[in-house]
Amino acid sequence: MLSSLYCRTSSIAAQLCAASYSTAAKPKTAIIMLNMGGPTTTDQVGDYLHRIMTDRDMIQLPVQSRLGPWIAKRRTEEVQKKYKEIGGGSPILKWTNIQGELLTKKLDQLLPESAPHKHYVAFRYVPPFTSDTFTQIEQDGVERAVIFSQYPQYSCATAGSSMNAIADFYKNRQIPKHIKFSVIERWASHPLLARVFAERIREKLDKFQRNDRDHVLIMFTAHSLPLKAVSRGDTYPHEVASTVALTMRELGVRNPHRLVWQSKVGPLPWLQPYTDDAIKAYAKQGRKHLILVPIAFVNEHIETLHELDIEYCDEVAKEAGLTQVERAAAPNDHPIFIDAMADVVSQHIKNGETVSSQFLSRCPHCVSARCQSSKQFFKDLCYEPAQMKESFIVT
Ligand code: FES
Repeated sequence: MLSSLYCRTSSIAAQLCAASYSTAAKPKTAIIMLNMGGPTTTDQVGDYLHRIMTDRDMIQLPVQSRLGPWIAKRRTEEVQKKYKEIGGGSPILKWTNIQGELLTKKLDQLLPESAPHKHYVAFRYVPPFTSDTFTQIEQDGVERAVIFSQYPQYSCATAGSSMNAIADFYKNRQIPKHIKFSVIERWASHPLLARVFAERIREKLDKFQRNDRDHVLIMFTAHSLPLKAVSRGDTYPHEVASTVALTMRELGVRNPHRLVWQSKVGPLPWLQPYTDDAIKAYAKQGRKHLILVPIAFVNEHIETLHELDIEYCDEVAKEAGLTQVERAAAPNDHPIFIDAMADVVSQHIKNGETVSSQFLSRCPHCVSARCQSSKQFFKDLCYEPAQMKESFIVT
């Protein structure tokens, strides 16, 4: 049922889905890849925006049940136009399936004890939805399920929202006793993640003339966050900063770098400086060469293909008078990135990890009853008495 739900969306994605769901051997371990998702066709844009604008974990608006749908409706046409300009839809499902296929192949080699591994995609705002995916893994009869966030840097607004959606799904439903669940909610400081970002930057540094190369400013850019969320104690800003610091160390160059923030929505203050403002400001200071590095996205989507490539590189930078601006590719299917994911998941399984105390703790100023019940849910979902836990440690 799940495959028919989302395999209709594009021919490439459909082929990948068919490949993924027709695996002959019964999967033993599910790797559930969480992400926000993106509309695969322009007719999904309205529902996608509606779901984002009414998700209070993602964004908090006054009278949200009315204002959220109103904003979504108002923005639909403009956002549809953007998706048309990048080929008619988001490639996030395609990339996630490619990454999942490569990851599980690698895990089968690394961990024969927990093989066969099978990847599942659980998106928050477009199919395949979290609820359909969890229904599917129950039907497939897996023994072990690793909930693996595809946001390396944790935020209560993104990974947290996906986790809350899982807790919602099990609100009026029996938790399957035969599945051992565990959670990987963050992996911002993994050395191979830093290495793949460094590789992606090197690919672009090579495009500059030798004389200009040392003067290129490396501008790391990540999705911004409302300052209200930052003040609540969301860990996202410092986790993004940790990936930046490790990437620069891995890169080993003397070029200057900065972390800036993109994709702000609405009138309230968000984390600054904004990427477009920073590009203009550096142009005024006389900078001529930049590399934009999307440091919080593991695959291409609208924020890289439209906002960075079309709006910032093609329009803002040219208008500001910069001579050369390059945009580093997202990790996508880079072999180092697949190794990074495989290392994160295999270490997690080998060490018999369940759920981290970091994930179970709340932001200091969190007052959300939803967060409170969700954390308790994951504690119950993943906790196992010591002797059962022992039996699942792969040696
Ligand atoms: Fe961060 Fe609730 S807002 S735990």
